[in-house]
Amino acid sequence: MSTYVVHGGNLLTGEVRIGGAKNSVLPIMAASLLNLSQTKLLDCPNITDVDISIEILKHLGCSVHREGYTAEIDSSEINNFEIPLELMNKMRSSFIFLGAMLAIGGKAVCGYPGGCELGARPIDLHLKAFKKLGVRIKEKGGYISCDSSHFKACKVALDFPSVGATENIMLLACKQKGTTIIINAAREPEIKDLQNFLNSMGAHISGAGSSRIRIEGVPSLKSVKKRIMPDRIVAATMMFAVATTGGNITLKNVDCSHLESIIFLLKDCGAEIYTHCDSLDIKCVGRLKSPDTLQTMPYPGFPTDAQSQALASFTTMEGTSIVKETIFENRFNQTSELKKMGADITIGDRMAVIRGVPRLHGAHVYSPDLRGGAALVIAALGAEGKTIVDNIHYIDRGYDNLENMISSLGGDIIRE
Ligand code: EPZ
Repeated sequence: MSTYVVHGGNLLTGEVRIGGAKNSVLPIMAASLLNLSQTKLLDCPNITDVDISIEILKHLGCSVHREGYTAEIDSSEINNFEIPLELMNKMRSSFIFLGAMLAIGGKAVCGYPGGCELGARPIDLHLKAFKKLGVRIKEKGGYISCDSSHFKACKVALDFPSVGATENIMLLACKQKGTTIIINAAREPEIKDLQNFLNSMGAHISGAGSSRIRIEGVPSLKSVKKRIMPDRIVAATMMFAVATTGGNITLKNVDCSHLESIIFLLKDCGAEIYTHCDSLDIKCVGRLKSPDTLQTMPYPGFPTDAQSQALASFTTMEGTSIVKETIFENRFNQTSELKKMGADITIGDRMAVIRGVPRLHGAHVYSPDLRGGAALVIAALGAEGKTIVDNIHYIDRGYDNLENMISSLGGDIIRE
């Protein structure tokens, strides 16, 4: 297993370009099934979750060609509508392929996605919405078999604004007769990116970014070329890194409107942040001040995917902070590793109390999940001495050569 070796203490200075968003490219790759034709994606990040999505697309009969940050997908020869357990187990968000497979094949089978490091990760909201739309569902032996031949467009209300369920309904409904309306839809920017992608294929979808999305089904969709939106969570990760180390960095290729909750929080902690049309400058001098509380919420609230990184930066800020995680039941996995580095953290029910200490010290720590791993890298960059961050395959799921970004800003990090 690869590790990162980090020597903490360097300021971060300079500029980096933020790449395409993992949580946008994954649903868009599933959506590329829908046009039974060619799709060209620009700013497609080189991360292992994209590798797995390509494996699934090829398993379904698509051809995929990748060159640098461009991916070309041809879905004209699709010949399979089943995703086996072994592929589902590689990436639970593969469940997003179900809606797209049903939209073109009318029948689909996939393995139950199961949980992950963050908790149970149920799919009841997806299945409840599909059933409301007339999809017949059988669950047996770890597999889910669906038949959408009796699809009936209607209003569906989500009990919780689930990102995946919202996306799955959009993919299922966009080529079905009639108008489907999603009430209490997720409002994340990645949903809007998916709407833009589908509409550029010829779909008729409106309302993404609001809690009410209207999908008017169309009979067919066409070839498309699309640049993936910037990854707001990678941008947030770099912001919490410089908040920890101190320094002055510029992030290029960001949509600052997607980062408002992070900007607000870090300004409150004493960071100087200047936003421009597609870039952001952040300057952190000396020890920042802990925010009193931080609570994760569905967008536009503070994103759960940036919570671990924020918490890592709070461990050496001045004062005490309370972090409440309202989206996932198990998203403090890396705090035991941060304690090995000298952090003062107490964990309660979906909450953590962090008492800032002047500085952490290096240790051998283990990434427990994608964002927890990024949080350990952040802590290591500010810590005294050497830190080994193990199990960085988790980090590679969502960060494209994180070490290159950090070392280009002066951070002392190498992959071994
Ligand atoms: C997406 O996951 C993201 N993944 C996650 O990013 C992100 O944390 C999450 O949205 C919330 O923003 C991708 O886009 C690939 P949800 P998703 O359905 O769709 C519960 C990362 O680090 N729920 O909005 O799975 C669920 O258990 C990853 O990049 C149900 O109860 O998230 C969770 O507690 C992690 N039943 C909450 O809702 C359901 O049917 C939010 O889940 C579906 C979800």
